[in-house]
Amino acid sequence: MQPDFPAGSVWLAGAGPGDPELLTRKAERLIATADVVFHDALVGSGVLDLIPPGTQRVSVGKRSGRHSKDQATIDTLIVAAALAGQRVLRLKGGDPSIFGRSTEEIDACRAAGVPVRVCPGITAASAAAASGATSLTLRGLARRLTFVTAHARGDEPLDLDWPGLAAADTTLAVYMGRAAAGPAAANLIAAGMAPDTPVMVAVNVSLPTERLIRGRLDALAFLVAAIGERDPALLLIGEAVGQRPSIGAPERRRDVRSAAYRTHAC
Ligand SMILES: C[S@@+](CC[C@H](N)C(=O)[O-])C[C@H]1O[C@@H](n2cnc3c(N)ncnc32)[C@H](O)[C@@H]1O
Repeated sequence: MQPDFPAGSVWLAGAGPGDPELLTRKAERLIATADVVFHDALVGSGVLDLIPPGTQRVSVGKRSGRHSKDQATIDTLIVAAALAGQRVLRLKGGDPSIFGRSTEEIDACRAAGVPVRVCPGITAASAAAASGATSLTLRGLARRLTFVTAHARGDEPLDLDWPGLAAADTTLAVYMGRAAAGPAAANLIAAGMAPDTPVMVAVNVSLPTERLIRGRLDALAFLVAAIGERDPALLLIGEAVGQRPSIGAPERRRDVRSAAYRTHAC
């Protein structure tokens, strides 16, 4: 019996960027204890392998705008499982509080009188910075870190505060930004960000298929062009991204195309 995970309760847990070694010990314990796990498509297969064979597993996979189940259905499913007396684990990619729709699920549980708790996870931006041996903030150069999504609804244009995002001392971590990379770069440059601002496109971060593509802002649309449509990609933009310690972790994949724009020794 786990006192913090009684029957009829829900945990929302972050699964991190994919590598099971980047899972928290708490999330690992919750996986081992749950009766049912509802998981996103971005939860890594190595993490899913930790789910015991007897545990019910439900994919509610949302990926690149293709939702196998809409949010209201997911809310209903997790609440119904808890009301049926199951220990429910809602496993989400990265950290549940960052572009993870966690508020809707917490509200749905509370409205139904279901106890709900949250376990954090490593978000894609932190994992991307670690893989690139770069820092998201930099003394005197990047005092702000902005997490932003460039995922527009339907055909709506991106409606973001471009002048605010283009501020010189900012690092931008752009989630769900591949499709809008070109317009985002154009808007940032029009708002005053230097065209040669360093960028890093981090694909499948922490997985064996990881790619880190470095370049400059005015080439961002080109840099993302070769990324597979189903591969998650995070865009890091800002001067801090171009500054790396001389001794860092080796990048697992270095894309030679970035050499045409700007190269950095590992
Ligand atoms: C719906 S958001 C969820 C973010 C998640 N909650 C987090 O904290 O990382 C999905 C986006 O996160 C980014 N992402 C998540 N996992 C990633 C990974 N392993 N590599 C690169 N980007 C990733 C991508 O921008 C992807 O489109």
